[in-house]
Amino acid sequence: MSDTAAPSQHPLPPLPARQRNADRELNAARLLRASAKHSHDPLTEIDWSAPVDPDHYALPAHRVALYGTPLWERLDERGRARLSTHQFASTTAAGIWFELVLMEGLIRHVYAGDLTTGHAQYALTEVADECRHSTMFARYITATGYPSARPTRRADRLGKLHFLLNDTTMTFAGAIFVEEFTDAMQREMVRDESLQPLARSVARIHVVEEARHIGYAKPELERRWAAMSPARRAVFRRALALLARQAVDEVVHPRVYALSGFDPAEARRAAEANPHWRRARIDWARKALEFFAELGILTPATARAWRRASLLP
Ligand SMILES: [Fe+2]
Ligand SMILES: [Fe+2]
Repeated sequence: MSDTAAPSQHPLPPLPARQRNADRELNAARLLRASAKHSHDPLTEIDWSAPVDPDHYALPAHRVALYGTPLWERLDERGRARLSTHQFASTTAAGIWFELVLMEGLIRHVYAGDLTTGHAQYALTEVADECRHSTMFARYITATGYPSARPTRRADRLGKLHFLLNDTTMTFAGAIFVEEFTDAMQREMVRDESLQPLARSVARIHVVEEARHIGYAKPELERRWAAMSPARRAVFRRALALLARQAVDEVVHPRVYALSGFDPAEARRAAEANPHWRRARIDWARKALEFFAELGILTPATARAWRRASLLP
């Protein structure tokens, strides 16, 4: 959109530019068709009045941040199931936080473009998906008795900073990271029939619709990355690693630990040192990081930052 309107110092040959826009429109047309066929209304498709079984885990036990730690040993089976439900509720609260930031970015992207293009129309379609997802997540939070959808103060400030900076390329890169990460987590939930049915229904709807969002963001990031100067790329690589780390930290809000009767600081340290939790984050981040490595956003020089965030082995 805005990148096609701005006169470039080194204009690309007309054919490749036209070709790029043609590819973008073809992709948008495919995504719009898929959205028309496979969109879900979680408010009517999920039975929100069904009671939530307190003995069901929302996440597989080995994917709970405290699994296998001395704190985990202090909980009985029901306490562990409850902790897993609170962790997934906290993940959906982080999802709301991120989706609101993403929606704002997409709206600005449309504002800078032309709504007669399929590309812009798909951006609005994605906003509509995210509106339903955020409402669905809020319903899940309420249904499970988790007390709030508010993010941490740190995430709140980061979101406001993003509103100020309005970096569309960062919006797409962040979306790829967060969407691939939650996609991997939620696919495990969909596969595991022993888990809480409500959590699995939420995960199933989200997995179906997020696949399209990833298909929209990836070629867009590719195009934007190709046009970026080496100096901006260097800053971008570090900023993205930082954003990813903050987003993953937000997955387990300190109140999750407090609700189990733990000291949040002590529990956080136990989770950070927990090899199972490190493994979970690395597994869930893998697909996004493979894509970033392919593009050259993740390089040997920036791998340390990703490793420190327990997102890379
Ligand atoms: Fe979503
Ligand atoms: Fe999404």
